[in-house]
Amino acid sequence: MTGKLKHFIDLDSFSKKDFRSLLDSCHDRKNSKIRHGKAEVDTDACAEHKILAMIFEKPSTRTRFSFETAMYQLGGKTITVGANDLQLNRGETISDTAKVLSRYVDIVMLRTNKHSSIIEFASNSSVPVINGLSDRSHPCQVLTDLMTFEENRGKINGNIVTWFGPGNNMTHSWIHAASLLDFELRLCSPENFGADINIIKKAKDEGANIVDNILPKDAAKDSNCIVTDTWFSMGDKEDNAKRKILENYQVTSELINLAKDDSIFLHCLPAHRGEEVTEEVIDGDKSFVWDEAGNRVHAQKGIIDWCFS
Ligand code: CP
Ligand code: NVA
Repeated sequence: MTGKLKHFIDLDSFSKKDFRSLLDSCHDRKNSKIRHGKAEVDTDACAEHKILAMIFEKPSTRTRFSFETAMYQLGGKTITVGANDLQLNRGETISDTAKVLSRYVDIVMLRTNKHSSIIEFASNSSVPVINGLSDRSHPCQVLTDLMTFEENRGKINGNIVTWFGPGNNMTHSWIHAASLLDFELRLCSPENFGADINIIKKAKDEGANIVDNILPKDAAKDSNCIVTDTWFSMGDKEDNAKRKILENYQVTSELINLAKDDSIFLHCLPAHRGEEVTEEVIDGDKSFVWDEAGNRVHAQKGIIDWCFS
């Protein structure tokens, strides 16, 4: 966070208490209202007279639509652009862009290639900034995932969450979450394709219960939540050698059957059936991916409200 501004850039800037309170507020916001229409404004209209700007350097379906819907439901307005449409594309600096946009809008969400672009924008912005995904992290999604687990299986504390596949931006936000809530996080990634070791070390030093270097069958055993993501994140070069190494990390029914009977499967989407997950698993009984995608709206509302409060 910069000064008094409440930026939502990474979960590791939260205290345990503040993060729990944010997560609870997302649940409360979802449960407090019977919605008669998707554009119906919440009673508190906490974003009334406010504008959210969204800038995307990479594609998006869920993040874009859920933030727009969230802002409408909070009584506010949105402006969404691709980064290539801005003068950024012709060399205007991030800092100049941040100073200008701060004069037009009340809050900005950025999806960037480089995490440092979000940090630079936030350092020069006089309005709150939200990380809508970077190469380092995807905090909005992991907040949603926690919400989805808890509304279906109760508090995450004491549960085992197991990550399958290469370490990426999603893994990093899960690692941050493991420092804030008392669950066990198992990281099941092939050698040389793991999450950033500095992020893992920092979380372990802070007391996070992280088990890494674990084989797929051991990792799945007794898990309460199995999570995976694409093997090639946006911007990654597709590589058949990497694909081959990852074959053993595909989430299959065999792995799911080793988990607890009431375990759930999560995936931030978009999914690649037949790569990181089988069709049988993602379209099966234990998959909560559609609830997860739907919950993006509620989590974004909690985040926007938190930034303004
Ligand atoms: N999960 C997620 O962030 O999806 P989009 O890339 O479609 O926004
Ligand atoms: N790790 C994925 C997440 C997509 C929502 C990516 O960065 O492409």
